[in-house]
Amino acid sequence: MTDAPGAQWNHEPTDFDQIGKLPRQAAPPARVMGSLNITAATADPGLLDLPWHIKLEEWPSANLAALPRGISRHVVRFAHLDGSVIAIKETSEHVARHEYHMLRKLARLDVPGVEPVAVITGRTTPTGAPLDPVLVTRHLKFSLPYRALFSQKLRRDTLTRLIDAQALLLVRLHLVGFYWGDVSLSNTLFRRDAGAFAAYLVDAETGELYPDLSTGQREYDLEIARVNIAGELMDLLEGGLIEEKVDPVATSELIMESYRRLWAELTEKESFELEDRWRVGARIRRLNELGFDVEEYAIKTTPDGSTIQLQPKVVDAGHHQRRLLRLTGIDAQENQARRLLNDMDSFRNDVTPAKDEEISAHEWVSSIFEPIVRSIPHELGGKLEPAEVVHEVLEHRWYKSQQEERNVPLAEAVQSYVDTILRYRRDEDAIMLSTDTATIALLEGGVLPDSAYDDE
Ligand SMILES: Nc1ncnc2c1ncn2[C@@H]1O[C@H](COP(=O)(O)OP(=O)(O)OP(=O)(O)O)[C@@H](O)[C@H]1O
Ligand SMILES: [Mg+2]
Repeated sequence: MTDAPGAQWNHEPTDFDQIGKLPRQAAPPARVMGSLNITAATADPGLLDLPWHIKLEEWPSANLAALPRGISRHVVRFAHLDGSVIAIKETSEHVARHEYHMLRKLARLDVPGVEPVAVITGRTTPTGAPLDPVLVTRHLKFSLPYRALFSQKLRRDTLTRLIDAQALLLVRLHLVGFYWGDVSLSNTLFRRDAGAFAAYLVDAETGELYPDLSTGQREYDLEIARVNIAGELMDLLEGGLIEEKVDPVATSELIMESYRRLWAELTEKESFELEDRWRVGARIRRLNELGFDVEEYAIKTTPDGSTIQLQPKVVDAGHHQRRLLRLTGIDAQENQARRLLNDMDSFRNDVTPAKDEEISAHEWVSSIFEPIVRSIPHELGGKLEPAEVVHEVLEHRWYKSQQEERNVPLAEAVQSYVDTILRYRRDEDAIMLSTDTATIALLEGGVLPDSAYDDE
């Protein structure tokens, strides 16, 4: 670790009032950082090597990672840290600490969001002039800000999927009592999830956690989402990035519908006649299908015993994710997991019908999942996450078999997928920029043309 006089490394739990009060060092040389205070959840010694004594806007390009970034009021940059990438946001100390704690709590509640790394205060230039504190988060791998998804004209149904993902994220946040206060596409990151998208919260600055949210609070958040999304879509339309037939206002209203449908399915009380009690199982299956587990549900009968009332009590997202993880150790996103489990279930039917679920799952991993991942040429490994690649290969095999009216063997399907599809995709684990104009467009929060990506 670099010897950094005055640097203070705080681990959680930390009393914030006590730190940041170390005596300032007199005019330190370039690499000495004054009384820097780092509050971090894990020790990343490399953090001390970053040039905190320089304004983020002026960081040397050697430290920076050129990745697509959304629009923001604050200065946000991506930097290399010990072989990974972090996002750094310059802001006030109060905001940085609030956001850091919100993100930590959300992570504990298992809500998809960016992972907080540290809050750094006490930054000064070599001449002792104060610099803004920063919030550091881990760059979410394979994620794309919505604007980067619009580098080609976005089709209307893709847009709908994006909004559905945003609605699901909002429902999950509201279920744990998080009021976001600034719901927008630019405060959300998207990862591909078996043909759909999985949404992650990126900006928790305005958020608050409550034991429960009132209907008024939820509706207010939803209204903010609608207004922000309409504005964001209008910008894209003006920039010629979405099809003209997309109506920004009508599309933004989709989030209300999508959210309300989901919320009702997850939380609403349902009443039915005693002879319709199959509806208890049906409701639970529907919730599972939507990706939620019911941890508890209340069933009440009327005094005369003729009617049943059912209300799911605690719902937890990630039903398929957890089943896939339990059976195979593969950590995928919800739709990917659902897709892989379907394949695993039909594998069990066709190949190992008599076997135990666990054993069959193990065989599926070694004869389907692993061979596909292994046969992806090394240089194409950064294109998509492994679970997404396996999903795409299985889909490709299905289409090819339909088209050619024969059972396409797995190895042939993989080869054909690599040659005709994967090779032509841009890298999503680290999109490298090839032109200066693209870098400038990015730094200004602009939209990248396809030509900005190395491999296109
Ligand atoms: N951990 C991360 N991983 C990937 N991208 C990130 C991460 N943190 C920030 N970003 C990118 O930087 C952008 C700006 O971050 P953020 O929204 O936190 O800034 P902000 O200035 O608070 O925004 P606002 O203008 O909404 O207040 C995000 O839209 C996202 O694209
Ligand atoms: Mg933001």
